[in-house]
Amino acid sequence: MSSDQSTPVPNHVALIMDGNGRWAKAQGKKRLQGHEQGVESVQACVKAALAHGVSYLTFYAFSEQNWNRPKLEILGLMSLLEKFIKEVSGRLDEEEIRLIVIGRRQKLPSAIQKELAKLEAKSAKNTKLVVQLALSYGSREEIIDAVKLMADKVAQGTLSSDEIDEETVSQHLYTREVPDPDLLIRTSGEMRLSNFLLWQLSYAELYVTETLWPDFREESFKAALEAFAKRSRRYGKVEED
Ligand code: FPP
Repeated sequence: MSSDQSTPVPNHVALIMDGNGRWAKAQGKKRLQGHEQGVESVQACVKAALAHGVSYLTFYAFSEQNWNRPKLEILGLMSLLEKFIKEVSGRLDEEEIRLIVIGRRQKLPSAIQKELAKLEAKSAKNTKLVVQLALSYGSREEIIDAVKLMADKVAQGTLSSDEIDEETVSQHLYTREVPDPDLLIRTSGEMRLSNFLLWQLSYAELYVTETLWPDFREESFKAALEAFAKRSRRYGKVEED
């Protein structure tokens, strides 16, 4: 959490973007049109984060479980992702944004993997805002991958099991370069974590809004920050007098 005035601003905001399909249905539109509007909301949140001094954003853009959606919807989401990559590639440096992709990226189409790797390398020096895009992401899968990495090191003798603590585990997750989220926003009213950042969200404040993701724009982001500012974070301790 960071704060330069009296209002605490979350350092890292994670977002579960839900309700694109319901938004489309309510408007008599196709599901993909809901996702298209959802991309606009991603851009709006980036803008709002820059305006309010949030340093890290993590968007749950495509889960491991989303591979089970109809083929046509997956293709549509991948082409939206390609379009998004093209749109932002010029702007990352301009706005000093660093992009990091988390998830089993090897499952993504190879052309997209290449473009994402280029964007990550190109933006690696940017420090104003770090945007993590969770793609083909699942938190249990991430924890399994971390356990495997640590087990290999123990087998090779480069890590002792006695040394493994919270910091060691954090350093083997996909999110190793980024501090844990302070605030989790979930849209469309669902009260679930859906296999998102299960380790990293241990002490995050949860904010669930009925607003559907395509309608979640700057004002909604600001409302979430205002709700966060009113929370009292105790991390398991008692309130101080
Ligand atoms: C959930 O809505 C949303 C998703 C599965 C995908 C989120 C993706 C985007 C916002 C667009 C892609 C993002 C980038 C950065 C290219 P849902 O379809 O589950 O909605 P529903 O629950 O109402 O059906």
